Amino acid sequence: MTYIFAHRGSTGTHPENTMSAFQEAARVKADGIELDVRLSKDGEVVIIHDETVDRTTDGKGYVKDLTVKELKSLNAGAKFKGGIHQAEIPLLKEFLEWFKTTNLVCNIEFKTRSIKNYDLERKTIAIVKDMHLDDRIIFSSFNHFSIVYAYRVAQNIETAPLYSESIFNPWIYAKAIRAKAIHPNFRSCPNELIVKTQKHGIKVRPYTVNDKKEWLRLFNCRVDAIITDYPEKARDFREQLFT
Ligand code: G3P
Ligand code: MG
Repeated sequence: MTYIFAHRGSTGTHPENTMSAFQEAARVKADGIELDVRLSKDGEVVIIHDETVDRTTDGKGYVKDLTVKELKSLNAGAKFKGGIHQAEIPLLKEFLEWFKTTNLVCNIEFKTRSIKNYDLERKTIAIVKDMHLDDRIIFSSFNHFSIVYAYRVAQNIETAPLYSESIFNPWIYAKAIRAKAIHPNFRSCPNELIVKTQKHGIKVRPYTVNDKKEWLRLFNCRVDAIITDYPEKARDFREQLFT
């Protein structure tokens, strides 16, 4: 069965990367949650997509220049189009305390550019290990140095390269970097590629799939998971298709 991962939580209906979006994903029985992590000025792992707080909150500035106290004073629901929401930027630790009580899987995406400093990856891995959640976590990143680092430090935690254009024979690349899956843009993910990649033992989880025609194609192709902003609708669609 194709799993449904809620992209930044249930982003279609709740402010992205907030506890309300994550809790909504659990409520609608998504199979997994995808979220993005960065480091605050005082070195805490926080859940936020952009390098600045400008697009999603009522504040301004780079996440790396703001302390947790400053980040927590912002409203992460301030710019949500679907109505008024009050929400905090969650710490990864806070999220995982709640996540422990669910039976979801979590895809943690490292938002990194650096290939010299692996502080975000090191701290994230330490938190996951400390909470004994290794077997429910998948690490991904567009920065493949990050996931190679993660594999070296925590070989038992699954990793997956994210990419938006295309990789020739991605199963060869995935095996070379010891990843167990690929996370391509759905536009770079034709059926033949899914079938071949899976045949080589590598999972395929395209992002960010919000279109019914694409759900139909990908569910019929038995892709391993889709990452979507609309987990509830995707779940209904999957149910109708297979019952
Ligand atoms: O992990 C899938 C997706 O989240 C990658 O793109 O920019 O939404 O983090 P982005
Ligand atoms: Mg992401």
